[in-house]
Amino acid sequence: MKVTVVGAGAVGASCAEYIAIKNFASEVVILDIKEGFAEGKAMDLMQTASLNGFDTKIIGSTSDYSKTAGSDVAVITSGIPRKPGMTREELIGINAGIVKSVSKSLLEHSPNTIIIVVSNPMDTMTYLVHKTTNLPKNKIIGMGGALDSARFKYRLAEALGAPISDVDGMVIGGHSDKGMVPLINKAARNSVKVSEFLSEERMEQVVQDTKVGGATLTGLLGTSAWYAPGAAVSAMVQAIACDTKKVFPCSALLDGEYGLSDLSIGVPCVLGSNGIEKIVEISLSDAEKAKLAESAVGVQKTNGLLEL
Ligand code: 2OP
Repeated sequence: MKVTVVGAGAVGASCAEYIAIKNFASEVVILDIKEGFAEGKAMDLMQTASLNGFDTKIIGSTSDYSKTAGSDVAVITSGIPRKPGMTREELIGINAGIVKSVSKSLLEHSPNTIIIVVSNPMDTMTYLVHKTTNLPKNKIIGMGGALDSARFKYRLAEALGAPISDVDGMVIGGHSDKGMVPLINKAARNSVKVSEFLSEERMEQVVQDTKVGGATLTGLLGTSAWYAPGAAVSAMVQAIACDTKKVFPCSALLDGEYGLSDLSIGVPCVLGSNGIEKIVEISLSDAEKAKLAESAVGVQKTNGLLEL
């Protein structure tokens, strides 16, 4: 199993590290445009191998896509992260060109790879890859919902005073502060609905804290988060690499599912060796349907800024 991670920044390097530690891939290639940067990150990570107990071979390369040839999965993290006060959508001007060029270069050397898009604005960048490559739609996956759901579970566990292992919750919709749809009425503490434990007000606070989870960290860190994004995308890579059929909320190109078409947005997907094995249409309340539809309008508005 060969995985390429484009972008040796904090998210890309965290993703590569988690993949290596999980030890399911034979090789991870990290690519960056900054001379020596990916090589240095790869070497530093390889020097943790004896300490963290993995056999994965990590190599770094400065923009030499030939090193990525034959990748089973390719993660695109390249592009600029947001600064405090910025929205993810404001990154489109720079990141669209980068994502388009990166996906083209990846496919020249790995025509059958599965691409996972992390770069923001993620849903629109994922749509861009659909529109500018001829990869089958099940092989283009956006990572946002897995991260947002992890933040949702963190906030739920905090509110419940429960161990995170007892909490389940999913966020669908666009990966944006306004577009996320945390499914609070489906969230559970060991199969018991969280509404049995939390007031309406506290549940709404969990929803709001989840929606600004990324912005909260950007305000604290001065740049976008990286540990949880890296962990989220590495979990998706593992589901694909090991064909686990786990369900993740992923940005998937819709063609009528949930009454939506011609956009990529976060919906529950079964992930396996074919990438998106199945888009799962779960039952949504009228309020949840309305929020997803509103989120889709926001994603389509951002998609409209692309020069396709
Ligand atoms: C986040 O929410 C980077 O969009 C990513 O942290």
